[in-house]
Amino acid sequence: MPEKEIAAVVLAAGKGTRMKSSLAKVLHKIAGRPMINHLLATLDSAGIGKTVVVVAPEADDVANAVAPHKTAIQKEQRGTADAASSAYPELKDFGGDLVILCGDAPLLSVETLRTMQQKRAEGFDLVLLGFMPEDCAAYGRIITLSDGSVAKIVEFADASEEEKAVKVCNSGLMFGDAQKIFSWLKEVKPNNAKGEYYLTDVVEIARQDGAKIGLSLAKEEELLGVNTLADLARAEKVVQGQLRRKFMDEGVTLLDPDTVYFSYDTKIGQDVTIEPSVFFGTGVSVDSGTVIKAFSHFEEAKIGSSVNIGPFSRLRPQADIGEGAHIGNFVEVKKSTVEKGAKVNHLSYIGDARVGSKANIGAGTITCNYDGFTKSHTDIGEGAFIGSNTCLIAPVSIGDGAMIGAGSAISNDVEKDALALTRAPQEERHGWAARFRALKGKK
Ligand code: UD1
Ligand code: CA
Repeated sequence: MPEKEIAAVVLAAGKGTRMKSSLAKVLHKIAGRPMINHLLATLDSAGIGKTVVVVAPEADDVANAVAPHKTAIQKEQRGTADAASSAYPELKDFGGDLVILCGDAPLLSVETLRTMQQKRAEGFDLVLLGFMPEDCAAYGRIITLSDGSVAKIVEFADASEEEKAVKVCNSGLMFGDAQKIFSWLKEVKPNNAKGEYYLTDVVEIARQDGAKIGLSLAKEEELLGVNTLADLARAEKVVQGQLRRKFMDEGVTLLDPDTVYFSYDTKIGQDVTIEPSVFFGTGVSVDSGTVIKAFSHFEEAKIGSSVNIGPFSRLRPQADIGEGAHIGNFVEVKKSTVEKGAKVNHLSYIGDARVGSKANIGAGTITCNYDGFTKSHTDIGEGAFIGSNTCLIAPVSIGDGAMIGAGSAISNDVEKDALALTRAPQEERHGWAARFRALKGKK
C-alpha cells in the first residue's frame, strides 16, 4: 500500500504573553533562525507536502517568515483546538493524514515524526507524542487506563494531585486521519479552568468515538516547549550542543566546545581549529585548515582556507578573507575582500575595500569609508605596504607594490611602486624636556 499523504498544521497564533516581548513568540530565534523555521525545515525534510501555519490576525511578520508555507488566520485566540480548526478551510478536501504541531515546540526530529507515522500504520487512529521531562512543570499530562491505553490528556491547570503525579507529558503533537481530527475538533467545548478550546480534549472525544489511540515517546530535548525566555535559552543550549557535536564529528577541533556559538547555517571545513569564546552569526563559512583564535565574532562572512584569524577579530557582513590571509587582534573587516596571503595583523578597520594579495596593512590603519552621507571604496593593490597609523580617505586607490609612510592621511591615488607620505616635519628642541621638568620642580 502506498504511504498516505501527510499534511501538517502548525499552531502559531498564541499571544506568547509569558515571553514578555513585543516580538511574536515563534519568531524568537534559536541558533540565528526563528524557532518556527526550525520546525518547518524539519517538516520539509520529512517530505510533508502541505503545511498550514495558523497565525493571529495582522501577524504579517509571522506570515512573511513562514512563506512560502501557507497560513490560516485564527481570528480570536480561543485556545489550541480553535487554532487547529482555523486550518480546516485550507484542508477540507484533503484525504490523507494530518499532524498537528505547536510552533513553540520547534526541536522535533524527522525520526520522531517517522516513529509516529509507523505507529499510525500499525492501526492506531490517533497517535500522540509524549515525553518524560526531568521537570514536568506545567505540561499537560497523558492519562492512561489500567490496560495501558490512552484515556485522555489533562491540562496542568485542570489536573488533580494524582494526575499531576503522572510523569508522561503531552508534547502537543497529534497524528491521525485529517478529516476525523477535524470532526473531533468540532466537538471540543471550553469546559476548563481557562475557558479555552483545548486541542487536548480531542483525545477523550476520539476515544468515545471508538478510536484506537496510540502513544509514541521521544526525548525531552526534542519536545521542549518554549513559553518563556528561560525556555528559549534552554532550547538554544540544546541546538548549540547538537551543532557542536556535528562539527566535531566532521573534523573541526573545538578547544572548549561549550563556549563556541554557531548559527543553524554555519559551514566549516575539515581541520579548522576554533579556540574558546567564538561567535558565529548567520551566513558564515570557513574553509579547511583555518585557525580561529579566541574571542572572535563573525556574521555573514566568508573565510578561506588556512587563514589565521583573531584573537579578538570581528568580521561583519560581506567580509571575504582569502586563502592564507592573516586577520589579527582588534581588526574589524566589513564589505571588503582581503585577498590571498594579505596581512592585517593589528588594530585596523577595513571597510568597503579590497586589500590585494600579499599586501601588508600596518597597525592602526583605517579606511575612512564614510563622510556622513556616502560610503566610498578603497582599493589597495597587490603587495602594497601601508605604514602604521595610516588613514586611507576613500575613494582612494593605492597601486600595486606602493608604500605608504607611517602616520599618513592619504586622500589622493598613489601610483604603482611609489612611496607616498603626508607627515609634518619633525622638530627637535635641545634640552627642552630637562628645562620643563626643572620648571615643574621634578627630576
Ligand atoms: C500546550 C498543550 C499542553 C502541552 C504543551 C506542550 C493544549 C491545551 N495544551 O500547552 O498539553 O503539554 O502545549 O508544549 O493544547 N496557540 C494558538 N492559538 C491559541 C492558543 C495557542 O495558535 O488560541 C498556539 C501557540 O502559539 C503555541 C501553541 O498553540 O504555539 C501552544 O499554545 P500554548 O498556549 O503555548 O500551550 P501550552 O500551555 O504550552
Ligand atoms: Ca507552549
